[in-house]
Amino acid sequence: MGKKVAVLTSGGDAPGMNPCIRACVRFGLYKGLEMYGVRRGYQGLIDDDIFLMNSRSVSDIVQRGGTFLKTARCEDFKTVEGINKAVANLKKYGITDVIAIGGDGTFRGGKAMADNSDISVIGIPGTIDNDLAYTDFTLGFDTSVNTVLWAINSLRDTMGSHDRCSLLEVMGRRCGDIALYAGICGGAEYILVPEVPYDLDAIADSLKKAHERGKTSNMIIFAEGAGNKDEICAYLKEKTGVKITTTTLGHIQRGGSPTMQDRILANKFAERAIELIMLGATNRVIGTRDNRIIDENISEALEMSGKFDKKLYKLAEIMSL
Ligand code: F6P
Repeated sequence: MGKKVAVLTSGGDAPGMNPCIRACVRFGLYKGLEMYGVRRGYQGLIDDDIFLMNSRSVSDIVQRGGTFLKTARCEDFKTVEGINKAVANLKKYGITDVIAIGGDGTFRGGKAMADNSDISVIGIPGTIDNDLAYTDFTLGFDTSVNTVLWAINSLRDTMGSHDRCSLLEVMGRRCGDIALYAGICGGAEYILVPEVPYDLDAIADSLKKAHERGKTSNMIIFAEGAGNKDEICAYLKEKTGVKITTTTLGHIQRGGSPTMQDRILANKFAERAIELIMLGATNRVIGTRDNRIIDENISEALEMSGKFDKKLYKLAEIMSL
């Protein structure tokens, strides 16, 4: 009997999920697999929101951000009862394999299901945060950074006109990658991330000196995990007397049409996922390292840490001098 594969997206959505679902379905069909979709991630497995897909099911989504399968953060799937219900629903359709597209939590959920059943699970990294150490890039990161860059460009126009300093808060949870990549590409003077301790007095001093020598518009990119932006802004204002305007970009940076890089990764990740399923693999996650597509054991991948690119951070500092 041929394999039956379900695809789901879970956790925060990310641009690139749609082209990846499309690629999983089309490459799976090409390999003779039966392909199913699951709505709202693990919640949909528990609720039996599972449907058969064909090539046309994934038409006209390659250019769209978000996920047409919808997504959810599912607490019930952290319980044995939740997992058992999900497995029973998958069995009703004869589904043998699940491709789970998402981040850290998605992979942990997938591993729990694979460890407690004979369902095979392959994970594809989809999160704007780029917070998975085993892979250089996750789906959605590139698009998100480009959206942040668009915001930085706009802010620079208006802040420059008013001789103001701008503090832009970006997402990333506990990871500073969005701030780092957007910061260096957008010419930010200061990049505050959770991975690198910062000295507010030194920043205040440098801001003040910059103003004194006529550099009246500066950009601070602040990763949400790096502290409390309102307190930092208040402290810097008090110490320097400089006008600082804060902007929180919010969910705008999680939407938008996926970039070329995210669409290429989506296709390549999907191809590897289907190939692994054909080989009978389970508990593996796909990634990219040094421009190559790789796969890793889920547990080993989740244990890795320390990906933050300190050399790039240093380079960003030098470029802002
Ligand atoms: O993980 C993606 C992400 O956008 C994070 O960057 C952010 O901290 C979080 O999700 C926001 O979650 P929610 O949309 O549930 O507020």
